[in-house]
Amino acid sequence: MNYRHAYHAGNFADVVKHVALSRLVEYLKLKDKAFRVIDTHAGIGLYDLSSEEAQKTGEWRGGIGRLLRADLSAEARELLAPYLGAVMAANPAGAIESYPGSPLIVRHLLRPQDRLSAIELHPQDFGRLRGLFAGDFQVRTMELDGWLALGAHLPPKEKRGFVLVDPPFEQAGEFDRLVDGLARAHRRWPGGIYALWYPVKNRAAVAEFRAALRQVGIPKILDVVFEVRAASAEGLFDGTGLVVVNPPFVFESEMRVILPELMKALGEDAKARWSLEWLAGEHTPA
Ligand SMILES: C[S@@+](CC[C@H](N)C(=O)[O-])C[C@H]1O[C@@H](n2cnc3c(N)ncnc32)[C@H](O)[C@@H]1O
Repeated sequence: MNYRHAYHAGNFADVVKHVALSRLVEYLKLKDKAFRVIDTHAGIGLYDLSSEEAQKTGEWRGGIGRLLRADLSAEARELLAPYLGAVMAANPAGAIESYPGSPLIVRHLLRPQDRLSAIELHPQDFGRLRGLFAGDFQVRTMELDGWLALGAHLPPKEKRGFVLVDPPFEQAGEFDRLVDGLARAHRRWPGGIYALWYPVKNRAAVAEFRAALRQVGIPKILDVVFEVRAASAEGLFDGTGLVVVNPPFVFESEMRVILPELMKALGEDAKARWSLEWLAGEHTPA
């Protein structure tokens, strides 16, 4: 396990993923009944943007750095408010110095009755994650394999909520593990919402992944794609994807407001594009 999210925290892919997560949490809050979020690959939860890792790549500047300077439509700004509130809560002095990871963003948005399970396998990263949430009875941190949790920890006793699966993609076979893990999880908890992150880098692998998802027999799958630049010949990390299973009914229309605004803020060339496509179930009107 060599992957360190500290190099990438706050980049364009984190922004898209975390904005989508925030909309899922906000939807679940429309009913009083408690819910649980399960983050199977949680990372450390809070990233110092002045660290050597973050400075080395500077990726956050093309993500949250650009978004914070963007002139957003009023409608998009309202939908982004929970996410941006979580980012600013991690930066109480006002200037952007830190970036919250998925567990901290979710935690910021929970109500007293809601819960978060944050899972991380890397021992050092787990130590940081545990420290961040020490004494917080709404958050359960676990040092274990997130893929196993997809079986053993579902369904949660609340029977409401969502599962984020955000693996590092440092090993071959990660796309297959995502499809298998989703199929297993969905058998145990068909009513759960799932968000699966993937990189748009190796286009052939992405096409195979999408084809496999069309065949997996799960009724409602929406694929969010956000590419910040034209596909590079050498297959660089030019875009990001998020597969959402059982998206709430408002999710697609909210993303149709949000994504064009994010694209204006984060797109890097004229080929930058976004899309929302049903891989199974409801179909987007032409
Ligand atoms: C992309 S990062 C997670 C970022 C985080 N979800 C966020 O949005 O802030 C992937 C994380 O998964 C961890 N990891 C790798 N293999 C794992 C496994 N089998 N189970 C749980 N965590 C794992 C890595 O150590 C890394 O911290």
